[in-house]
Amino acid sequence: MPNILTLDDHSFQGKTVLVRVDFNSPIDPETKRILEDVRIRAHGETTLKELADMGAKVVVLAHQGRPGEADFIPLKEHAEILGRILRRPVSYVDDLFGEKAKKRIKALENGEIIVLQNVRAYKEERKKATPEEHAETEFVRSLSPLADAFVNDAFAAAHRAHVSIVGFTAVLPSFAGRIMERELTALSKALEAPEKPCTYILGGAKADDALRISKFVLDNKIADNILAGGVAGHLFLLAKGIELGKPNKEFLEKKELLSYVPGIRELTERFPHEIKTPRDVAVDVNGKRKEIGTKDLPTDFPISDIGAETIQEYGGIIKDSKSIVISGPLGIFENKEFAKGTKEILEAVAESQGFSLVGGGHTVAAVEQLGLKTKMGYVSTAGGALIEFLMGEKLPGVEALKTAASREH
Ligand code: 3PG
Repeated sequence: MPNILTLDDHSFQGKTVLVRVDFNSPIDPETKRILEDVRIRAHGETTLKELADMGAKVVVLAHQGRPGEADFIPLKEHAEILGRILRRPVSYVDDLFGEKAKKRIKALENGEIIVLQNVRAYKEERKKATPEEHAETEFVRSLSPLADAFVNDAFAAAHRAHVSIVGFTAVLPSFAGRIMERELTALSKALEAPEKPCTYILGGAKADDALRISKFVLDNKIADNILAGGVAGHLFLLAKGIELGKPNKEFLEKKELLSYVPGIRELTERFPHEIKTPRDVAVDVNGKRKEIGTKDLPTDFPISDIGAETIQEYGGIIKDSKSIVISGPLGIFENKEFAKGTKEILEAVAESQGFSLVGGGHTVAAVEQLGLKTKMGYVSTAGGALIEFLMGEKLPGVEALKTAASREH
C-alpha cells in the first residue's frame, strides 16, 4: 500500500494491539438483535483472525448505531457472533477505558481477543478533531499506554474524524488492517474511468449523502442516471412539489432532512432527464403493503418501498448500464412486506452485464441474504465512507494512517 503501513510491516506476536473495526450492523428494532453479521464476518475472518493467529493480544474497538437511535446497543452480541465465526472464545468487556477494561487488557494472553464497550458510549467519541487533539482525550490517554500498536480496519467509518478512528494514530505505531487495505485497493481500481452509461442508485436513510453524491457525479459527468429510492427518494419527490402526506412529512421533519429539499430541487431542475424519481410507492396500511401511484399522493400511510412500475422502469435503465453504483436500500428491507423494491433492484443489478459496485451496511446485508454477492462486481463494506471516497474526498481515518506511517520512516 503506498504511504500506509499494513500488517505485513510489523511483527505482532505477543503485542497488545488496539483494532478499530466497523461492526455497525442492521438491528431489529423490536428484539434489538443483529439482523446481519456480514461486517463482523469480514473483519473476523481476515484481520482479527490473522492477528490472533500471530499471537497478538487483540483489543477490539467498535461502534454500533448512534446515541439516541434505536440501533444504539452494546456490543455483547457482536462479541458472541465473532466468537462463533472464529471458533474461539471472545469476551465482551462492558467498559471502554475504566479500571475494568484496563485490568482485562493487562491480563490478556497471546492470541486472545476481547471486545470493549461500544465506543459511542463515550460522549466525546463523535467530536470532530485532529489526531493530536483526540490523543489528549481520556479515552486515548487511558488505553494507549497499555497498547503496542493500533490497527485501523474500519474503512466503513474512515470518513469520521472520531476519537477511536484517528486519536490513537498520533501516539501509537499504526497500521491498516486487511479490510482497510482491500477496500482502498479495490475501490481505487473501480474508480478509474467508469464505463458509460453509468447509473447511480441511491436509497437508504442518509439523504444528505445522496444529495452530495448526486451533485458530484452529475456535475462531473460521471453518472448518466440517478435512480432515487428510500428516504432519499421521498426528498426527491418533495423537491418536485409532490406532497407525501402527514406521517411521511413528520418523519422527514424528525430526521431534520427537510432542509435538503431546496438543494435537491435546484439539482432536479438542472438535471431533469438524468434524475429519476419513483412513479409509484408502497405504503404501510396496518402492516400490509399497498401500492399507489405518486399521482395519488399525499397519503395518510407511511411510504415504505418503491412500487412495481418504478421497479420496472429502474430495472430497464440498470439493464442498459455499463457501470452501476448502488448504495442504500430502496425501501424498508428488514420488513418482508417492503423488501420487494430492494430485492428486485438488487437482482436487476446482479443480472446486468455492467460492472457493479455495491455499498452500505444495509445494502450489503441484503445482498448477502439474497445470495447475490458473487454476481456483483465489487461489494464494499462501506456506505458513507464509500460515497466520500467516490467523490475524491480525503478520509480522515486513511489520512491519519498516512501521517503515522510517515513518522515511522
Ligand atoms: C456506516 O454504517 O456507514 C458506518 O458505520 C458509519 O456510521 P455513522 O454514519 O453512524 O458514523
